[in-house]
Amino acid sequence: MPGRLANRTALITGGGGGIGAATGRLFAEEGAAVALVDSDPAGVESAAEAIRKAVHGAAVRPVVADGAQETDARRAVDDAVAHFGALHCVVNVAGIRLYTPLVEADAKDWERILGVNVLATAYTCKAAIPHLRAAGGGTIVNVSSVYGVMGRAGMGQYDTTKAALLGFTRALAVEEAPHRIRVNVVCPGGTITPYHIRRAAESGVSESQLRASRQRDNLLGRFAEPREVAYPILFFACEESSFITGATLMVDAGRSIL
Ligand SMILES: NC(=O)c1ccc[n+]([C@@H]2O[C@H](COP(=O)([O-])OP(=O)(O)OC[C@H]3O[C@@H](n4cnc5c(N)ncnc54)[C@H](O)[C@@H]3O)[C@@H](O)[C@H]2O)c1
Repeated sequence: MPGRLANRTALITGGGGGIGAATGRLFAEEGAAVALVDSDPAGVESAAEAIRKAVHGAAVRPVVADGAQETDARRAVDDAVAHFGALHCVVNVAGIRLYTPLVEADAKDWERILGVNVLATAYTCKAAIPHLRAAGGGTIVNVSSVYGVMGRAGMGQYDTTKAALLGFTRALAVEEAPHRIRVNVVCPGGTITPYHIRRAAESGVSESQLRASRQRDNLLGRFAEPREVAYPILFFACEESSFITGATLMVDAGRSIL
């Protein structure tokens, strides 16, 4: 049986990270040719190599680019199109976190986090849309966060950027509907990616302690695995969601209703 993304090319930003790499692997399993874009050369190279090893015949191209720079975002899109011949799906996963209370947040950090978490998505979409239109339509999936719809102390800059992605997604869905481009956004809850495991280890918390810490945080009492976030992204990227655009999907085990 052909995969859900057979004969499709996808570009995934943040493809060297936990959720981005898992999405790249799932897309490759479903038949897509995948461009993994990331600012971390070693991370994106090893994610591409892992996908090639895991998925027989996978077409994966690692691209090193800083999506917060418009010229870099455009270069990454152009590279994917030049290499694979077309572009049908874009997944914006790249993101950074900052842990400064809003009252202490400075201009440099605001510019940095807005650059990666909001502008990189805007620049990547802007560069990709002419190619999606040329292909007769396509899909864009943005990755926000459960904290795009919830308030909390300590990560206000991050949460602001994630809320911005919800508005961006809705506006772009309206603008691009006439061109048969569907735009949706997923809001993951806590997902156990290497980033979180590394960060916990730095403060002396083991992976098992980290996992246990989530027991009362959501209705399922645990973190998501990256692949559990990749599946909803796949749904939005493929034809199974053909009547859905402008939607916000909570992938948070009920975190946001508690
Ligand atoms: N893991 C979670 O618990 C969780 C929960 C909600 C939302 N999210 C969101 O999901 C996304 C992925 O999360 P993750 O846990 O896999 O994180 P991660 O840190 O493992 O991956 C993010 C990737 O983005 C890349 N990146 C950073 N700046 C970049 C730039 N300027 N240009 C290109 N690439 C850049 C990083 O190198 C990294 O590989 C992020 O947007 C994050 O905010 C994660």
